[in-house]
Amino acid sequence: MRFPQVRPRRLRQNPVLRALVRETELSVSHLVQPLFVRPGKKIRNPIGSMPGQFQLSVDELVREATAAHKLGVPAVILFGIPERKDERASGAYAANGIVPQAVRALKKELPELLVICDVCLCEYMSHGHCGIVHGGRVLNDPTVKLLTKAAVAYAEAGADIIAPSDMMDGRVAAIRAGLDAGGFAETPIMSYAAKFASAFYGPFREAAESPPQFGDRKSYQMDYANAAEALREVALDIEEGADIVMVKPGLPYLDLIWRVKEKFGYPVAVYNVSGEYAMVKAAALKGWVDERQCVLELLTGFRRAGADIILTYWATAAARWLGR
Ligand code: PBG
Repeated sequence: MRFPQVRPRRLRQNPVLRALVRETELSVSHLVQPLFVRPGKKIRNPIGSMPGQFQLSVDELVREATAAHKLGVPAVILFGIPERKDERASGAYAANGIVPQAVRALKKELPELLVICDVCLCEYMSHGHCGIVHGGRVLNDPTVKLLTKAAVAYAEAGADIIAPSDMMDGRVAAIRAGLDAGGFAETPIMSYAAKFASAFYGPFREAAESPPQFGDRKSYQMDYANAAEALREVALDIEEGADIVMVKPGLPYLDLIWRVKEKFGYPVAVYNVSGEYAMVKAAALKGWVDERQCVLELLTGFRRAGADIILTYWATAAARWLGR
């Protein structure tokens, strides 16, 4: 059948008809708000390249998380900015480091809010790389040991989900074993499985004060030209025990969200990263696009592509826009 018998516009005539046949729903229950925490009190440092986002001290973090949770945001993911950085990322796995402090405060005030902890070393390293550097190279296996220590420290503080973002080989298996040995067999791992070396992380590195001081991250994060390799990375992380697999960044990688969902049928998360946020924000601030409409369209796009979970700096704003 075709036109004039077929007229797709019949089902687009009014909002009620359109809602009746809508295929994808965006709801707040899939959104995760990333938050940056730093030492101090009453600190709310605006992040220049991410209007509306802040580095927060623990007290302010609790306030921000409370507001988000009241609007229905189910989860936050934490990134820590330590007092001091060194060559061993000591702040990443200190039992009383900034992230464990933040987790304890959040779980005390908001026991029902899911607290996800990003596990990486770059924010804690003086050189800004995601692992131990020796002779100009990022060493894999010694780094995995430190990542495991960090994961266990966060679980001990009460983290609900552990999310390694470093892209070292074998880290999911090591973290799973570490968590199990520490009595945290029930703590899920959300691995940044297909994480690409991306220019869209620029604003995050300002936020987390973590740009690499030499070279780039291309010896551990993936080449953005590669999809088959991304599927192999996801397969490895699933074999090693990941419960949720992530594709990151989001907008240039919708094909991979779809393929990962189709191929593995695992819960898929997508990270709508800092540069994607900054682009829309900047255009909206200039009055060139409507922020709310653009954001609802792109978040729905992630869901349509197959994402179950969306990490987005707009989680709280979207919760407000979506109502409750
Ligand atoms: C840490 C980490 C990064 C992001 C999440 N975890 C930065 C990086 O890999 O350089 C980026 C998030 C964003 O851009 O919003 N490794």
